[in-house]
Amino acid sequence: MTKSTAINHYLKEQASLDLLRFITCGSVDDGKSTLIGRMLYESQMIFDDQVASLKKDSQKHGTQGEEIDFALLVDGLSAEREQGITIDVAYRFFSSSKRKFIVADTPGHEQYTRNMATGASTADLAILLVDARNGVMTQTKRHSFIVSLLGIKKVILAINKMDLVNYDQKTYQQIDQNYRSFAKNLNFKHIQSIPISALVGDNVYEKSKMMKWYSEKTLFSYLETVKVAASKSSKFILPVQRVNRPNLDFRGYSGTIASGNIRVGEEIRTVPSNQKAKVKEIFIGDKAIKSSSDRQSIALTLNKEIDISRGDIICKKDSIVESADQFNINMIWMSEENCFPGRSYIAKIHNNSSSIKILDIKKIYNVNTLEHSPGKQLNLNDVAEVTVSLNKNVPFMPYQENKNMGSMIIIDPISNQTIGVGMINFALRRAQNIHLQSLSITKELREKMNGHKGQVLWLTGLSGSGKSTIANALEKQLYAEGKKTYVLDGDNIRHGLNKDLGFTDKDRVENIRRVAEVAKLMCDAGLIVITAFISPFRAEREMARSLFQSGEYKEIFISTPLKIAEQRDPKGLYKKARSGEIPNFTGINSPYEKPIKPELTIDTSKTSVAQSVKKILGIIT
Ligand code: ADX
Repeated sequence: MTKSTAINHYLKEQASLDLLRFITCGSVDDGKSTLIGRMLYESQMIFDDQVASLKKDSQKHGTQGEEIDFALLVDGLSAEREQGITIDVAYRFFSSSKRKFIVADTPGHEQYTRNMATGASTADLAILLVDARNGVMTQTKRHSFIVSLLGIKKVILAINKMDLVNYDQKTYQQIDQNYRSFAKNLNFKHIQSIPISALVGDNVYEKSKMMKWYSEKTLFSYLETVKVAASKSSKFILPVQRVNRPNLDFRGYSGTIASGNIRVGEEIRTVPSNQKAKVKEIFIGDKAIKSSSDRQSIALTLNKEIDISRGDIICKKDSIVESADQFNINMIWMSEENCFPGRSYIAKIHNNSSSIKILDIKKIYNVNTLEHSPGKQLNLNDVAEVTVSLNKNVPFMPYQENKNMGSMIIIDPISNQTIGVGMINFALRRAQNIHLQSLSITKELREKMNGHKGQVLWLTGLSGSGKSTIANALEKQLYAEGKKTYVLDGDNIRHGLNKDLGFTDKDRVENIRRVAEVAKLMCDAGLIVITAFISPFRAEREMARSLFQSGEYKEIFISTPLKIAEQRDPKGLYKKARSGEIPNFTGINSPYEKPIKPELTIDTSKTSVAQSVKKILGIIT
């Protein structure tokens, strides 16, 4: 077949077929590339010219003598992955006369949990590949757990390289049993074990002549016939992505349907604002249609004007879709940097973006045994059940009911990297029962009485850099000017409010979280708050900043070099730290992350206390 006839043929024939999305998990050593290569070849989705060059390459570089080395085909297609780190999941398309397939091919090493999660989130089925010589490995268990967490209900355990174990039925049975006893605690509905040799072709497309004892379906025939349930929820849900208002007569609400369908004339409701209307028109692009189909990107107009914005949900009038701001979620942590309760990140849930805090780590799973234990922080690749709090109410559904409405990605606000994914289990009721009380005497009134604005001067820097000395001198000056002030100082606060905290990373995060909240209350009371804490982490300083209105929080970096601070050593702590008596001492064996854009920088080895005070007075508003 030539390329152009093949493509035409493909487009015509395939348009009407249904689609199976699946993911393959396993490493190159398990034969994954060979398996995918063979499936593409057997389904004739590689073209004559590719076959010819593949034969040539196989003889030159392959590992299979005169035979075709299918791994070369897939590895060739994967070149894009090696070249750019941006593509970490490769999607491949192929088809048979019965079905279309999209396979997400994800790298198999442990640190690639993130890619696997990306590939698995849209898949209907997973093929878990094991090498018959090794059986079920740690990696197989890890992959199975993530696959189950992401809501995949059907798996194929492809027991590969049967040719290398003499097509031995006992080996197959043993691996099958091992796997089933591990997987009984996972949420799978069906496990199909298939003994194959991707290399030779046994039971991939054609039935193996060497394994007559296996009478069930071949891998390909299973993929062609397996039934996958349509999305559990067929409720119509449109997460609103954009409100289009090209002219005064038209207001369209557009987005991609998360589930279900809608017809012109049906009654709808919005969440969270709970307003009702009827659908007037439905558009795909500029073409009007009468009713929508699954997962289409549509725009709706309504019979009356209601207030809808990005991140809201449009559903049918009687659908129950809730909104909440506190959740119990399963989370996969994907960053080298640990995750601490109390630290702020950004969460994206369908079209909402919100700041998110981990309130509590409930369980950290041991993916090998599926046992769980409590924990204080999450490390790379940890899978945990946690409770989280957002800074706004978002419409949601549990992940197991609706993947689009129940999943979130978690982003580092400083680096903008995706550092975790979350799957909502349920909302915490208490969020709905605690309301902010509005008070009659406002910050503005208090500021008026004080004669100045409430604000925070946040001093950050190494121990011994001069923070407390400057804070003290500054407060004396402000007091003399009749200003209302208060100094929050590390050493003092750690004797009272924070006496339960030490100096581990986790405790420092909590230390600064509490101090920031106290500073916010004091600022609300109209005071000029001066804080003197090492506050070594950028993330917590940014979190503190985010609590205040723009201009209220001023970061002042006391940049005195470590060498000078250590020479001063006013409390003798550096000496102790150097001799190993104090663990986690900032600058010695615990990091200090310098501010990137402080409002002011002062190096006290070059600037006197009086000059420092003068500089700070210059930025007070
Ligand atoms: S922070 O890192 O959590 O912001 P904080 O400013 O509250 O620290 O407290 C720092 C003070 O605690 C230091 O000035 C020092 O006197 C004392 N200290 C005791 N142990 C340590 C340590 N391991 N690292 C830093 N400071 C310590």
